[in-house]
Amino acid sequence: MRVAVFSTKPYDRTFLDRANERHGHELLYLDARLTTETAPLAAGFETVCAFVNDRLDAGVLALLQGGGTRMIALRSAGFNNVDLPEAERLGMTVARVPAYSPHAVAEHAVALVLSLNRMTYRAYNRVREGNFSLDGLLGFDLYGKTVGVVGTGKIGLIFADIMHGFGCRVLAADPCPSHDAKAFVEYVTFDRLLADSDIISLHCPLTPQTNHLIDARAIAQMKDGVMLINTGRGRVIDTRAVIDGLKSGKIGRLGLDVYEEEEQLFFQDLSQHVIADDLFMRLTTFPNVLITGHQAFFTTEALTNIAETTLDNITAFERGTGTLHRVTPPTLA
Ligand code: NAI
Repeated sequence: MRVAVFSTKPYDRTFLDRANERHGHELLYLDARLTTETAPLAAGFETVCAFVNDRLDAGVLALLQGGGTRMIALRSAGFNNVDLPEAERLGMTVARVPAYSPHAVAEHAVALVLSLNRMTYRAYNRVREGNFSLDGLLGFDLYGKTVGVVGTGKIGLIFADIMHGFGCRVLAADPCPSHDAKAFVEYVTFDRLLADSDIISLHCPLTPQTNHLIDARAIAQMKDGVMLINTGRGRVIDTRAVIDGLKSGKIGRLGLDVYEEEEQLFFQDLSQHVIADDLFMRLTTFPNVLITGHQAFFTTEALTNIAETTLDNITAFERGTGTLHRVTPPTLA
């Protein structure tokens, strides 16, 4: 099958080429992010393969369908960037990679917790400059602290397990509590989680209900000096409210792997450019904020699974048999 693969980097090509040896699809690699402007590049391709910051709104889907595209193969678990009802209306099949390595993301969230707590990102630079002062590097024992997990799906539960291993008490909030949650996971209301947690980590998808779930009202309920971690989706957090929380000291440490307006920034080398996003630049000025550019998924295991499942989805669609991880509008509810 002919596949136009958007938003590709050298590492995507390496893993997709390796996985494609079993499939033999014709893959056209495009650097460009999928937008209204770039959608015409997919004309004549039955399948479009897209990543987290590719835009698949009604306008883009119409352009793709006009060019003959019948399938969207997402290289991600999240599908908030696709207008699913519109895709269905246009008769397009949307598939995703439901789980490629929940461990990768959960472990990265833990890396943010540890690094923010002991400020290893600051210590690294200090020591290289011959500054062995410990002022400003004071952390706290994780043992005995309360961790709030928002969203106990595949990633949230692994994060909960790891934090329990440190000796933390684990609270969780989820409208659909998991049957797989271990006995130590205490389900509480979202408000109670906000009020009782020393560390809050977000592992819910972006939906209309979770858009700006962490807003000024939610932040006001948190403990003073709380640590907030987001490896879910940027829009789950109202960035302006979080900046106010950092300025007042309500939020003591902030770790982000995702950002509301990351489409314009992440996955690119902008070191020679002036970054016009003032909110993002304000975030980078806080000493107690650690940001990574949507890299939580970025492990060898995850990239292997993403490539294999994506191509399996495309082959299943082509042949009409095999496992196709289809996403349909009701899943969004
Ligand atoms: P999942 O579908 O297994 O679990 C999501 C959980 O969130 C479900 O249990 C669901 O009931 C819960 N949830 C939904 N609405 C909620 C709400 N209002 N409050 C609390 N919980 C709510 O998804 P998985 O695999 O655990 O991934 C979670 C999210 O992580 C994805 O949706 C995606 O946005 C993000 N992600 C980020 C990556 C990164 O590289 N930073 C990579 C992969 C996923």
